[in-house]
Amino acid sequence: MTHFLDIHTTPPDDLRAMLQQAHAMKTARAGRPRGAPDETQPLAGRMVALIFEKPSTRTRVSFDVGVRQMGGQTMVLSGADMQLGHGETIADTARVLSRYVDLVMIRTFDEAVLHEMAEHADIPVINGLTDRTHPCQIMADLMTYEEHRGPIAGRKVVWSGDGNNVCASWLQAAGQFGFDLAFTGPKQLDPEPEWVDFARGKGATVTIERDPMAAAADADLIVTDTWVSMHDAQSARERRHTLLRPYQVNDRLMAAAKPDALFMHCLPAHREEEATSGVMDGPQSVIFDEAENRLHAQKAILRWCLGT
Ligand code: CP
Ligand code: NVA
Repeated sequence: MTHFLDIHTTPPDDLRAMLQQAHAMKTARAGRPRGAPDETQPLAGRMVALIFEKPSTRTRVSFDVGVRQMGGQTMVLSGADMQLGHGETIADTARVLSRYVDLVMIRTFDEAVLHEMAEHADIPVINGLTDRTHPCQIMADLMTYEEHRGPIAGRKVVWSGDGNNVCASWLQAAGQFGFDLAFTGPKQLDPEPEWVDFARGKGATVTIERDPMAAAADADLIVTDTWVSMHDAQSARERRHTLLRPYQVNDRLMAAAKPDALFMHCLPAHREEEATSGVMDGPQSVIFDEAENRLHAQKAILRWCLGT
């Protein structure tokens, strides 16, 4: 069974092939209405369940549109409305869904839910974000970087802020794609050592730098994310803001990077917190290309999972 659970568990050649296919599919339908079907219909006859245990705009809409463009059908389910949210086990849910649909995408809290779903499903499972990782986002981000600047291998990516789930998938990608990653943030919010070790073990240079201006030197890309993720306790909000305020991405930080450095944010953003509107709407920002590329990257992920 071909699940898409994380960047570090997917073979690098397959990740690269997915990015190439995503680019080709994007190019092939350029200028066509969003609702127009792709010329080839690789998901014809396929039914895809999209399960959300957390809110979503981009993941929900991009998966739904992507499946439809490829000729498949979708159902969008809220975890709270399913028996899953009322005591039915993940394993039983996985077995039942396997009798109805051809693929499940799930956004959940504990990654154990994702892994249990994958273990007991007879169909592919895609990780649509957990507390720990967000691999679909990073596929779109890699695609976006390479569209603008060419191969990411050997480049320097700076993550400024919380060492969270999106940062984790960036670290996994550093190992798989061979770029350097500098994390800059407070030590209380460092990324998990497991992901730092993974990237280093694959030969990537990973640095931890408390001074954001020093980290940004020679950066090809600066990335940030919200200071309070969906899984973080609201009671931690003040503490997180205090810790993370020095790591805001603003004009000063961007000026410390290479002149042609890009800026990314997976969105949703809290403007004037983790990044200023000046940066988000400025000439180095590619945040809406990232959002668009969720659609194209995930279409390639869906085809890889389904072998179509
Ligand atoms: N970036 C991202 O996953 O956005 P949503 O939470 O809107 O899906
Ligand atoms: N780190 C954020 C990403 C949202 C797409 C969260 O988990 O809430």
